[in-house]
Amino acid sequence: MALDIVIMAAGKGTRMKSARPKVLHRLAGRSLLQHVVDTAATLKADRTVAITGHGAAQVEAAFAGAGLAFVRQEPQLGTGHAVQQAVPQLHDEGTTLILNGDVPLIEADTLAKLVHACGGKSLALLTVVLDDPTGYGRIVRSGDSVGGLVEAIVEHKDANEAQRRIREVYTGVMAAPTALLKRWLANLKNDNAQKEYYLTDVVAMAVAERVRVVATHAHDETEVLGINSPAQLADLERRYQRRQADALMEAGVRLADPGRFDLRGELTCGQDVEIDVNCVFEGRVELGNNVRIASHCVIRNCRIADNAVIHSFTHIDGEALGARVGAGALVGPFARLRPGAELAEEVHIGNFVEVKNSTLARGAKANHLAYLGDATVGERVNYGAGSITANYDGANKHRTVLGDDVHVGSNCVLVAPITVGAGATIGAGSTVSKDVPPGQLTVARAKAASLPGWTRPLKAKK
Ligand code: UD1
Ligand code: CA
Repeated sequence: MALDIVIMAAGKGTRMKSARPKVLHRLAGRSLLQHVVDTAATLKADRTVAITGHGAAQVEAAFAGAGLAFVRQEPQLGTGHAVQQAVPQLHDEGTTLILNGDVPLIEADTLAKLVHACGGKSLALLTVVLDDPTGYGRIVRSGDSVGGLVEAIVEHKDANEAQRRIREVYTGVMAAPTALLKRWLANLKNDNAQKEYYLTDVVAMAVAERVRVVATHAHDETEVLGINSPAQLADLERRYQRRQADALMEAGVRLADPGRFDLRGELTCGQDVEIDVNCVFEGRVELGNNVRIASHCVIRNCRIADNAVIHSFTHIDGEALGARVGAGALVGPFARLRPGAELAEEVHIGNFVEVKNSTLARGAKANHLAYLGDATVGERVNYGAGSITANYDGANKHRTVLGDDVHVGSNCVLVAPITVGAGATIGAGSTVSKDVPPGQLTVARAKAASLPGWTRPLKAKK
């Protein structure tokens, strides 16, 4: 049986007070609409149609290649009018599932249950009971009881006093028999408080035709909360982060404070991982056993092996290339690892050291104020404070190769391309632009000169 999904994403989101379309605002690093699209994808629908309107071009561009069909709704005359626009895209038979682009945390199994409850025959509504139902469409049941049959959905603005006391509300998610839905949509009227075509009016039509209407309850409130304002976005972000933090702690990860933890992507952890406060993980991050992340680190697209320690205020961004920290390595505080930084076992990277597109072999150290770009660094190399690889000539990047056991003194400039032989020592303050032989001391700086008899200038007397 065909399954079509319609995602409503045409609304303006006035209360966001933003130039960005509401559904493109981010929750845990993914846009609101991306959350919905990712969850919808688990249902393997035949067709997924997104209704766009406000900021349509921007929304469509953000989801180009995501396998969605787009239908524009201009102007926006209500949720029923929105779904009407999708009608030509829908199959003639089967089930249509209707989702909201601004309800990001809806869960896959809730949707699967709703589709099952519809079965191409019944109208299935996702409802939830709220302490404060203000603003929502109320589920009106016969005989005034929660167990009674659903008779209609009445929008808050159209509801009378008694109806406003109903705490069971429509979440904005329904699954409908497609053939019936098409007919009902064609008959919608806008004779209501908002002069809109309400999708929710199909409920009364179903009841009139004796089509079974079933209401499925959501797991909890969080999964059906919609985003209308920055405050609601921040609230849902914290709820989502708390959920992720709980899952990690359940798996044995020790978070110093689950309230000060942010994961915007995927984090996998080995055993005995400790994460201090205010760390942000983005993209794909893998932590091995006994990894310790101190406070205030930002880590994106990186693999960190067993027993490594990342000290406070370290910034790691592997971007598309990724970054890797070897077993037992020490990084930071205040270190910066960029794309292609590959640290082997026991490497030490200290404060104010930047590493980009460089591999450091086992036991190499760069402990203070240094830059390694496009470098291949051998085992046990000691890279002095203030030294840099001059890897860019203004047009092209060049490599620096340091053999095993090289010592680079403080404040050196290695002008690439350059190879420094194993065991070489480069004296402090040297600028070297030619290959350096192994095993020797190479110094490239002016000799110190002392001038006997020189005196300091004195202030002129007036
Ligand atoms: C709707 C429901 C209400 C339910 C609530 C849950 C109707 C008439 N009412 O109310 O019963 O309790 O959701 O959150 O359906 N949209 C369009 N085009 C439009 C209008 C809206 O695409 O012309 C989209 C919006 O972008 C949004 C969704 O539809 O994603 C819901 O619209 P919104 O105006 O927020 O609906 P409510 O009035 O809150
Ligand atoms: Ca509305």
